[in-house]
Amino acid sequence: MDNPIPAIAIDGTAGSGKGTLARELARELGWHYLDSGALYRACAYTILLQQIDLDDARACGKAAHDMELEVRFETPGLQLWLSGKDISEQIRTPEVGAASSSIASHPEVRRELLPRQRAARQAPGLVADGRDMASVVFPDAVLKVFLTASLEIRAQRRQAQLKAMGVDAKIGALIQELTLRDQQDMQRHAAPLIQTPDAFLLDTGAYSIEEVCAQVRARLPDSPTPH
Ligand code: C5P
Repeated sequence: MDNPIPAIAIDGTAGSGKGTLARELARELGWHYLDSGALYRACAYTILLQQIDLDDARACGKAAHDMELEVRFETPGLQLWLSGKDISEQIRTPEVGAASSSIASHPEVRRELLPRQRAARQAPGLVADGRDMASVVFPDAVLKVFLTASLEIRAQRRQAQLKAMGVDAKIGALIQELTLRDQQDMQRHAAPLIQTPDAFLLDTGAYSIEEVCAQVRARLPDSPTPH
């Protein structure tokens, strides 16, 4: 692969802070941003809507192929439109999160979503977050980062995110959900969540978002100055 447009690949477990870091970096650098998890969530959402069996790999792959999805990055964040309907909030529920992890294990689904992710690599650059950004989607990324944080901290972050959307969730249930999702994501055969040997490992638990961004920026090849 010989793509002159630089990409930064940020992978990690659910709730490790990937999205916050990727969005902030993209803003500072003036680069595009790809939330690849949102594509899997949108796909799971349409599959749930159509009442397709989550274990039916072929039918899920077809739904991914047929999905009419438009992604816009606008204030206050990412907006997703499925067949003309704004589904940005609906895809953030724990139910859609769990379903997205199930359908993400099908190679048929991953194959369909791959070109949509690579198409996001536009000048002047792309910051992408997900589970296989470094290993599969952008193996030639100029910088690869792998984020972690303790289960408790990740569950607290999820609880705060859901609360901001008006959803009350218990910490115990969120810990269970995150544990299951991590297991599924790490143990699947197709593009499992892994830290590639060339990725920079960062535990975000002890740092503010500014500190996390500064640590990552310092590792960029040309260390571009923030906008
Ligand atoms: O990042 P987020 O939690 O929104 O992703 C939802 C699910 O989509 C993940 O649990 C994972 O199973 C799947 N996913 C994936 N590969 C990616 C991004 C997300 O398998 N690159």
